[in-house]
Amino acid sequence: MNYRHSFHAGNSADVVKHGLLIALVHALQQKPGALTLIDTHAGCGLYDLEGEHAQRTGEAMHGVLRAVSDANPLLDDYRTAVRAVNDDGGTRFYPGSPRFLADVLRPQDALILNEKHPEDADTLRGAMRDTPAAVHERDAYEFWLAMVPPRTARGMVVVDPPYEQTDERARITATLAAASRKWGHGVTVIWYPLKDRAAHWRWKGQLRALGIPKFLTVEHWLYDDDRPGSYNGAGLFIINPPYAFTQALPPLLEALRVVLAPEGHRGEIGADWLTGAG
Ligand SMILES: C[S@@+](CC[C@H](N)C(=O)[O-])C[C@H]1O[C@@H](n2cnc3c(N)ncnc32)[C@H](O)[C@@H]1O
Repeated sequence: MNYRHSFHAGNSADVVKHGLLIALVHALQQKPGALTLIDTHAGCGLYDLEGEHAQRTGEAMHGVLRAVSDANPLLDDYRTAVRAVNDDGGTRFYPGSPRFLADVLRPQDALILNEKHPEDADTLRGAMRDTPAAVHERDAYEFWLAMVPPRTARGMVVVDPPYEQTDERARITATLAAASRKWGHGVTVIWYPLKDRAAHWRWKGQLRALGIPKFLTVEHWLYDDDRPGSYNGAGLFIINPPYAFTQALPPLLEALRVVLAPEGHRGEIGADWLTGAG
């Protein structure tokens, strides 16, 4: 486990992922029933964008720093959550998915986090000290399967791996298949990087073959040209997205595309059903 999210916190992929996570939870919260939010690859929870790791890559410059200086009201919830971890209204600190999720928690909701890297798990416990979140330090896939179905009828699992292991996609496919059998109506969000188009199509074919009835894909391509093998953007698989979320999605995606488009590129972002149609 070499991956450290502190090098990448607040990059363009984080803005899309965290912006959509907030929208998903808000859509689920249109009903008063309690939710359980489960984060299988939680990371540190809070990142110092002035720290050595973030400064070395400068990735936040092309992500959160653009989003906070933008005025589109559709990104207000995202910006409010970033400001919530900065007492002075600045942007030194960036909330990871656990803090974004904790920020939208209602009294009846539960948040269960998991992080395997011992150092990051320690940092995570510190970052979540003032929240009701439970923190585990287990293998993500074993944890995911053990946590579903949760105690509440409704909830969401967030799966955000680093993809440094060659079998990461195979483990996701197998665990998703098993988890769907245990909890067919649960919402699941899986983040993935967009690199090689052919490999990505193969994986999507394997996921389609699982026969999960409501399976949405969101893809964000940063550049207008094809750059095989390098990082071209990122996407989310969203299983069982709530109707209110899919209805609100097109203008939110457009707001994200505009704010994150690299210099000289329009970029492309869209949602498609891998199976089902809402
Ligand atoms: C992309 S980062 C998570 C970022 C976080 N979800 C966010 O949005 O702020 C992936 C995390 O997964 C952890 N990780 C990698 N393999 C794991 C595994 N098998 N089980 C649990 N955690 C793992 C890494 O240590 C890293 O902190």
